Order: sequence, then structure tokens, then C-alpha cells
Amino acid sequence: MKFFIDTANLDQIKEASELGILDGVTTNPSLMAKEGISGKENIYRHYKKICDLVEGDVSAEVISIDLEGMLREGKELAEIADNIVVKVPMTKDGIKAICEFTELGIKTNCTLVFSAGQAILAAKAGATYVSPFIGRIDDSNWDGMQLIKDIFEIYTLQGYETEILAASIRSSYQIVESAKAGADVVTCPLDAILGLLKHPLTDIGLAKFLEDHRKAESAAK
Ligand code: E4P
Repeated sequence: MKFFIDTANLDQIKEASELGILDGVTTNPSLMAKEGISGKENIYRHYKKICDLVEGDVSAEVISIDLEGMLREGKELAEIADNIVVKVPMTKDGIKAICEFTELGIKTNCTLVFSAGQAILAAKAGATYVSPFIGRIDDSNWDGMQLIKDIFEIYTLQGYETEILAASIRSSYQIVESAKAGADVVTCPLDAILGLLKHPLTDIGLAKFLEDHRKAESAAK
């Protein structure tokens, strides 16, 4: 399973990248706004900085909601760097745009996916990634992880090649559950990735090893 970081914050992307396990980055207009990035030139410059930091795929979302606008924007975004993936919302025009991008060999990430039916359409259109938003589904008292399982079952049965990118992840636990459910990729906040490192028995065990080593060293003096 690939690990993407879900942020537009350069420091966090660097920190995750230095861990050595980072495979890519996802952004969205809200995450860009959170970093105070606005205006087309600044936004594109920021994407370029992200693409220079990581070798893997970087999802950059279109703002247009009409087909013509999405196609124009997607082509411009794809020009920024080879590792740009054009993120397109799950709408009628979005599906048409994904079909065109697929024809053109431009990688896509179909975003805002909340049902298995939407995931089937994304795969039929040839999306590189489909992004089911598991956290937001849980927030609405539904079962986000079940959606990952359903999409995995359908894609496996049907032989779809679109990768399942579990998005809207809020916890380390959801990363583990996504792996069990068959996600190809998880995109997560830095805290959720770092949370995977933690276990109290690891801390206790390490303290004991170091203490025993220290005792043996002093006894030998
Ligand atoms: C990433 O591709 C999505 O845009 C992101 O995971 C959404 O996360 P949120 O539901 O926490 O905003």
C-alpha cells in the first residue's frame, strides 16, 4: 500500500518525505487555502515546489466545474511537472473530463467519491485513482471503511485497474483498517502517519534495553 500525505504544507511534506516511506501527496482547494496560497500563479508555483520535494504522484485539483474549464485547467496543471495528477470532482462533466484525460495519457484522481456506483464510473472513465472520503462518510453516521471494502470487491471482480485511494483519513487506526480493506493508497495527515510509530510497550522496552546496557557498562568499570 502506498502512503500519500494529505497536505499542502511544505514543512510537513518534507518531514514525511525524510521518513523515507512517502509515495506522494494529495492537495485540495481547502488545503491550499489553509496555507494562504491564492492566485493562479502562486498556486501553480506552490504545486511546483511540492513536485520538486517528492518523486511520487502529486494530486492538484481543478477549480472549474464545467467540462471545457476542467480540460483547460487540467492540461495546464499537467504541464507543471511530470508527477502531477489532475484531481477531478465526481460530476457528470468530471467523468467526461476524466475520459478525455485518459485518452491524452494524463493521470487523474477522481475525488469526492461517496458510493460504490460513483467508484464504478470513475474506473470506467479510466481514472488513475479513485478517492472515497472515508472520514466524511463516518462523520455522516455511515461506514467509510465498508465503502473501501465494497470498491475493492467490485474492482477485483471486474478487473478494474483504477487504484483505490482511501482519503479523508483522520487517524492511524483508519490507515491500518484501509490496508485490511484492500486500499492501494492511503492519503493521511502527518499526525496519522506518525501515530503509526507509537506503542507504549516500544517505549518501555527501549527504556529497559538502554537501562540494562547502562548497568552492564557501569558494572564492567
Ligand atoms: C484528499 O484527496 C481529500 O481531498 C482529503 O483527504 C479530504 O479530507 P477531509 O475530509 O479531512 O477534508
